[in-house]
This record gives sequence, C-alpha cells and structure tokens, in this order.
Amino acid sequence: MKIFLIGFMGCGKTTLGKKLASKTGFQFIDLDKLIEEAAGKTIPQYFAEHGETAFRELERDVLQSASYHENAIIATGGGAPCYFDNMEWMNKAGLTVYISLPAAALASRLEKAEEVRPVLKDHKGAALVQFIAGKLEEREPFYSKAKITASGMGLNADKLWTIINDQRR
Ligand code: S3P
Repeated sequence: MKIFLIGFMGCGKTTLGKKLASKTGFQFIDLDKLIEEAAGKTIPQYFAEHGETAFRELERDVLQSASYHENAIIATGGGAPCYFDNMEWMNKAGLTVYISLPAAALASRLEKAEEVRPVLKDHKGAALVQFIAGKLEEREPFYSKAKITASGMGLNADKLWTIINDQRR
C-alpha cells in the first residue's frame, strides 16, 4: 500500500510519516527531499532562481515518476495536491490521507520552525494566521479529495495507523 500524506505546511506530514514508516516497516519518502536531490539545490534556492511555476512542474515530475516501494509512506509538499492532476494521480496510485489543522495551529507551528518556506514570504504573527487562512481556503477543495481526513490535533503515528486501518476501503 502506498500512503500519500497531504496537508498544509506544518501539519506534521514528515514527522508522522517517518514515525509511521518505522512502526510499519514501510519505506519512507519525503517528496521535498527528492525534489532537492533532483534539482541539486534546496527548495528556497530553487524558488529564488527559477520561480514557483518551474518548482510546481518539477514537483509534479518527481511525484509522478519516483519509484516507490510496494509499501511506502510518502510525505508530500503542502502545495503538491493543488497543481496539475497530482491529486487524481495520487488517488489512483495509492491511499491519500489529509492531515487537517486550523490556520492558527499551523501558524504557531510554522512560526517555531527552523525550515525556510518560500511560500510563506516572511509573514509573522496575525498576518501569518491570515495568510494561512486564505491559502487554506484555496487549497481545501484539493485536500478534501483525499480518501481519508485525519485531524492533526493530538495526532500521533499510532492513532494515524488506527484511523487508516479503520477507514480504508
Ligand atoms: C510548499 C510546501 C513545502 C515545499 C515548498 C512549497 C507549499 O513543503 O514543498 O516550500 O506550497 O505549501 P512542506 O509542506 O513539507 O513544508
């Protein structure tokens, strides 16, 4: 089974994905890392040098051409489901799981994060919450195409695994 974890930046895809992979023995893939390897530069560098349109094309190519093990957990970038036919492609290739969190919770996690996220453009405090709320609204129609939605509040790998096994058809 290929499990695609989707959701906004900061919702916990990478952390939960890694833990779930070590619990289940599934392969773990961080799509952002694969993109950085393919590009030979970091995502912030790529955005700065080539712009977001080129990044989205690379993201689609990497997502749709990577070789995944039969059993794999893939943490995708927050924008990946929202461009091209990526969401449809993931829904055909495996089980999509949306980890959902409200804008305020995402903002407080993202404000503490060390990782640079070019999409957030240095917004801070109330402006960050507002920015995230707007982006979430744009992205929800894509995220909501996931086969499973799990609330990210108090979520851990054990709970996520139970949710996945209870809800997959
Ligand atoms: C992005 C999310 C990032 C990364 C890039 C763009 C987005 O991934 O792919 O900076 O548009 O939401 P994470 O969700 O892993 O931070």
